[in-house]
Amino acid sequence: MDRSIKIAPSILASDFANFGAECQAIEAQGCDWVHVDVMDGHFVPALTFGPATCAAIRPHIKTVMDVHLMISPVDAYLQEFAEAGADILTVHAEAGPHLHRSLQHVRALGCKAGVALNPATPASALEYVLDLVDLVCVMTVNPGFGGQKFIHSQVAKTAEIREMIGDRPIHIEIDGGITPQTAPLMTAAGADVLVAGSAVFKGGSVSDPAPYGENIRAIRAAAEAARG
Ligand code: DX5
Ligand code: ZN
Repeated sequence: MDRSIKIAPSILASDFANFGAECQAIEAQGCDWVHVDVMDGHFVPALTFGPATCAAIRPHIKTVMDVHLMISPVDAYLQEFAEAGADILTVHAEAGPHLHRSLQHVRALGCKAGVALNPATPASALEYVLDLVDLVCVMTVNPGFGGQKFIHSQVAKTAEIREMIGDRPIHIEIDGGITPQTAPLMTAAGADVLVAGSAVFKGGSVSDPAPYGENIRAIRAAAEAARG
């Protein structure tokens, strides 16, 4: 189990007209995974894109395609996202009444299975599905938009989840409002995958990608220092 710090930029904060080049740029600048935010305008207020866009992005990603499904219902779409090439498919615990079934389905499709928890959802929602998950995504903002403010109450929840997980090979990912200031709180609490949109893409572009690398290194350094 690789518990080293992994930085997963969210392409929600990138140039939508240039997804392929943006994915290549963040990978060249040292990210570990690429985080892809799918929103349906129903489970969350905003709309982004669906499986066809994911499939188009896929050939431009060499690392890990981490697909965060903020959609409800979700089950009917899992196969299409798996076929689009997702390595990890994360569903929300709040997205439907049958989380257990959704996770079984994701694994049956050959993807790693993730569960995301909204800020109001307790860690106990994971209790009876832990053996079906490869990743828990703790939302540190209410999902739906990039650039929101980090919600501090999720630090204690992350520590609680780390405790629940024990020796199981499960990643803890955090998503929303992550910066060099907030990342250390979460890695100290047990997170290993840090999603960051605005904090990675700010100041750079496909034609000037060096700031992406500086931003990634700043988050990583702060996060690793808190690990001790
Ligand atoms: C929020 C998304 C996040 C978001 C993070 O609904 O799931 O992945 O893009 O953006 P920042 O890092 O800007 O909060
Ligand atoms: Zn996300």
